[in-house]
Amino acid sequence: MSKAKEAKVTIRRMIRSDIHEVLALDRIIRGSRRDVIKYEDIASANPGTAPDMSFVAEGDGKLVGFSINRSMYLMVPLTEVCIIHAILVHPDYRKHGIGSKLIQALLKHCQTEGIGTVRALIPKGSKELQVMFERQGFQRSRIVNFDRTFES
Ligand SMILES: CC(C)(COP(=O)(O)OP(=O)(O)OC[C@H]1O[C@@H](n2cnc3c(N)ncnc32)[C@H](O)[C@@H]1OP(=O)(O)O)[C@@H](O)C(=O)NCCC(=O)NCCS
Repeated sequence: MSKAKEAKVTIRRMIRSDIHEVLALDRIIRGSRRDVIKYEDIASANPGTAPDMSFVAEGDGKLVGFSINRSMYLMVPLTEVCIIHAILVHPDYRKHGIGSKLIQALLKHCQTEGIGTVRALIPKGSKELQVMFERQGFQRSRIVNFDRTFES
């Protein structure tokens, strides 16, 4: 059931006290898989203070979405880039523009801060993420990733 139509959703910067709600939302989507986000992953970036640029979406008095973003200096291109590490909207609130609003809030913030590139890292084959980023003007970058992974 979609609850988004009735909810007035506001977008604001993530702060430290949001972390537990963010983790709870992440667990709803990812279940108990190994790749769930941990408290220290978010807390270490001190949400609400630079270089953290994470945002949350609030509706019906609770968090219904979030994006975890951090700015960093990269060598390719040699400039400050804001990386979107994760973006997620509660299933009951999807397809009502909340994901787009989270991205728009970040883009506006980056423009204000003079950060010229925003880069989204998304799993290959995720249609919903791909469509959303393309609608917000993102294009496939020319940077190729090489990963070396280890069994643990
Ligand atoms: C991707 C996601 C954030 C989109 O959030 P949302 O609030 O539903 O997005 P919006 O309503 O702003 O939709 C943005 C665009 O994407 C499109 N879209 C959304 N879901 C879609 C889907 N399942 N298939 C195709 N297109 C889709 C919308 O139609 C919209 O396009 P439009 O502007 O032309 O109408 C949400 O589906 C989600 O949280 N998915 C799980 C993502 C995930 O696994 N994150 C963790 C790793 S990063």
